[in-house]
Amino acid sequence: MTSGPGGRCDPADLENRLRAVVGRPNVLTDRDVTVSYETDWTRRFSGHARCVVRPGTTEEVAEVLRACSAAGVPVVVQGGNTGLVGGGVPAGGEALLSTTRLRALGDVDPVAAQVTVGAGVTLAALQRHVRPHGLDLGVDLAARDSATVGGLVATNAGGEKVIRHGSMRAQVVGLQAVLADGTVLTRLTGLPKDNTGYDLVSLLAGSEGTLAVITAVRVRLVPVLAARTAALLALDGTATALAALAVLREQLPAIEGAELFLATGLDVVRRHTGLPAPLPGEHPAYLLVEVAGRTDPTGELLVALEEVSGLDGVRDVVLASDGPGRERLWRYREAHTEAVSAEGVPVKLDVAVPVGRLADVVAVLPDVVTAAAPGARTVVFGHLGEGNLHVNVLGVAGDPVAEHAVEEAVLRAVAAEGGSISAEHGVGRAKVEWLSLTRSDAEIAVMRAVKGALDPAGLLNPGVLLPR
Ligand code: FAD
Ligand code: MLT
Ligand code: ZN
Repeated sequence: MTSGPGGRCDPADLENRLRAVVGRPNVLTDRDVTVSYETDWTRRFSGHARCVVRPGTTEEVAEVLRACSAAGVPVVVQGGNTGLVGGGVPAGGEALLSTTRLRALGDVDPVAAQVTVGAGVTLAALQRHVRPHGLDLGVDLAARDSATVGGLVATNAGGEKVIRHGSMRAQVVGLQAVLADGTVLTRLTGLPKDNTGYDLVSLLAGSEGTLAVITAVRVRLVPVLAARTAALLALDGTATALAALAVLREQLPAIEGAELFLATGLDVVRRHTGLPAPLPGEHPAYLLVEVAGRTDPTGELLVALEEVSGLDGVRDVVLASDGPGRERLWRYREAHTEAVSAEGVPVKLDVAVPVGRLADVVAVLPDVVTAAAPGARTVVFGHLGEGNLHVNVLGVAGDPVAEHAVEEAVLRAVAAEGGSISAEHGVGRAKVEWLSLTRSDAEIAVMRAVKGALDPAGLLNPGVLLPR
């Protein structure tokens, strides 16, 4: 552990000091260039950064943070800028620290099934690096080409394989991170057993850039399971999707994905992609499941589907076990995000509800939304196995009163069911006002104490996760 000298510095001189640390080309101040860092993926959140700084090593990150601390300038941390809650873009006036040059790829350790990579490595680059070794990351999501490993950890991302492997926190066995004052914390040994006090690695998972800048991550890897079969079921509603999933879970130990989408979402996807209907006819709900193993799992999936097809409300099913066929089925689910955004700027509410309440919640959500904002359109899809719904509301963004009314109505409804206002995207700036709906005063006080201990001056991502 090393710590820096600190010492006050004139804020007006900050950019020159940063240029001395990372080199002139890596301190951006030209608006034409910085603008692409200043708006989030949804186009809902944006703010002006006083500069964008792109350190290339952990030591440079530490020097950058020392300089910003000395100048009293707050810092926003950004990875791939695919976050959906506005946590990685400035509110106004911060220095934006981009991690995209932290791209080191360590050797894959096949015995431990672990690898250490820089925080700015994208998920797709990590996949390309480890798959030739017969290993894979247990987390996958549609933003893989841009989302960074540091961002995945900072948001404790979930995605499409949580049902089998858990969220990002469960994949992280070590990391390196820099506190606001430049102190470097290094814990990269990846020991599977290590009970020596507070688990700082876990603490930083889901901290959304408010506690430290993650510069490197050691992840555990899972075997590549090349034998895969996907099935898309057409159903009469969400309750049937849950009943089908219960049967499949009981019969199939190897379920790797269980995704829900509805007729409204399928319409939007087909309009955007031009894809044909996945199955003949129109159906209220669809369940996409994938099973994976070392040997072809199609036979056991067919046996389980036989029982599922006996359930009331199961209307049709299509299977795919070849790569292109599976990708075609997944496209209907993965294209939801871009297709919804193509129809307008959405208010995106990622929530979790107890699975026992999920069907009722899905049924009432469109009415909850239109009661708050008449004329708004709701598109719901999500990760069924975790009761994780993505509630996308179109037609209100840009109208602050309507946006607020929709957020309040949906998040209160979810909280009333014993759910969470954020399942996997985080709190960011988008939900900071609503944190107390599902976190007690005592919990928020503890979070503030942790923040105060690691970042006493409140310089890292101010206004994100915790109310100012
Ligand atoms: P950014 O957007 O740059 O940042 C996100 C947050 O992490 C910010 O608060 C930022 O300050 C902080 N941060 C980033 N890097 C660091 C770092 N090195 N150190 C400290 N803090 C840091 N999310 C899911 O969970 N599941 C999904 O299935 C999913 N699918 C998606 C599909 C699409 C098409 C898109 C656009 C997004 C999706 N997301 C999903 C959301 C997003 O991809 C994840 O939140 C991802 O983890 C963000 O990574 P990023 O590198 O883009 O982070
Ligand atoms: C997804 O599951 O597709 C994502 O979390 C992105 C979204 O909510 O749009
Ligand atoms: Zn998701």
